[in-house]
Amino acid sequence: MSQVIQRFPAGFLWGAGTSAHQVEGDNRLNDWWRFERLAGRIAGGDVSGPACRHYEKFDADFALTASDGHNAHRLSIEWSRIEPERGRIDPAAVAHYHEVFASLRRHRLTPFVTLHHFTNPLWIADHGGWEHPDTIGRFVEFVRFCAREYGGETDWWCTINEPDVYAFRGYSEGTWPPGRRDDSAALAVIANMLEAHGRAYRVLHDEDRADADGDGRSALVGFAKNYPILEPARPWFPLDHLRVAAEQRVFNEAILRAPMDGEISLSVPGARATRRRVPELAGSLDWIGLNYYTRWKVKVFAPDPHVLAPGAPASDLGWEIYPRGIERALRRLGALGVPVVVTENGTADRADRRRPRALVETLVHLGRAVAAGVPAHGYLHWSLMDNFEWAEGFRGRFGLYRVDFDDPEKPRSRTCSAELLARIARANAITDAELAEVGLVL
Ligand code: FCB
Repeated sequence: MSQVIQRFPAGFLWGAGTSAHQVEGDNRLNDWWRFERLAGRIAGGDVSGPACRHYEKFDADFALTASDGHNAHRLSIEWSRIEPERGRIDPAAVAHYHEVFASLRRHRLTPFVTLHHFTNPLWIADHGGWEHPDTIGRFVEFVRFCAREYGGETDWWCTINEPDVYAFRGYSEGTWPPGRRDDSAALAVIANMLEAHGRAYRVLHDEDRADADGDGRSALVGFAKNYPILEPARPWFPLDHLRVAAEQRVFNEAILRAPMDGEISLSVPGARATRRRVPELAGSLDWIGLNYYTRWKVKVFAPDPHVLAPGAPASDLGWEIYPRGIERALRRLGALGVPVVVTENGTADRADRRRPRALVETLVHLGRAVAAGVPAHGYLHWSLMDNFEWAEGFRGRFGLYRVDFDDPEKPRSRTCSAELLARIARANAITDAELAEVGLVL
């Protein structure tokens, strides 16, 4: 008989996540599709192309996860499909997502719906993207459309995925569209996204057709925050500490504060600071999504100021595997006083060699955070299957299910990690058998 090590609260949500552009295939009308075609932007010259063909295969994918004990699933609605040109709605795309929701319902998977996951319709990108204040209102109108159309299909809305990461990669580092390197623009983009979240929050509530899905609950609106653990690379070096404090302030704290009190206050050295008060933003989180991956050791004057702790285990993309960090991240987000759902956590590991243990260890720490009183309601692994990992192309393999991209059918196969998550999800608990299987001694 195996012994329970960690039990999760009744009704805990277990599942996996995707985003439209990374899995659907053929998202031709957004800014990523265009960016992928610029020379030298994506590792290995990859393009998303048909991706996982999830646009056609969603029903079989949901059947697979449901048979593996999942009871939830995170997806995003692709704005460029719904509204390919300004003001023109594509009825076929609208109907498609209704079918997706119907399939989720059939498979008893609670949907978590993201409304912006890194991609923009070309007509938005060509009108100044998120630097342009017009984008706020246009996004909010798209959100209103989704609220009216799909409000009866979900309670869990995630307005925007990782505004900080989006702005950093696209506007500071310049490795994602629009490929800019301007910290002032990055701060303006974060501010516009936060404002858009606040306004989208009001719209989602105004349009919520009082519990259309009949589960006695109305819409819960939040966003997903990437929360890296930041530590000085050299504990004896004051400048590393200073930089940690500065990054913690702008990456983590400023973004968590804004939806609480409505104050946007973003600054980094050498850039134009952005400060404003947005009344709709105050009190605009019913829940928060935690995307947790890694710890960064922060080292000033290094070519890349985020370095790996010496000797630390790392994923295929060189990100430190640091499972216990999730506990710290959860405590911080839990202190906001709203429910927390882990909306992403995972490891790029093509061979599925390090992931099984990382997964079990992370879940042990999640369990501990829950036991310590963090109001965590679910865990959604990133990702359901291998997919198009943005600028890393197809070399970042995060899937619970492997995808054979050489085969035009893109067949899926189960990893050991999927097996382990299935056991834990079915039991709603971790037992000593899972620990033993991954060689974890607590
Ligand atoms: C997150 C993104 C997600 C995926 C993972 C690895 O920042 O939200 O789409 O790329 O990282």
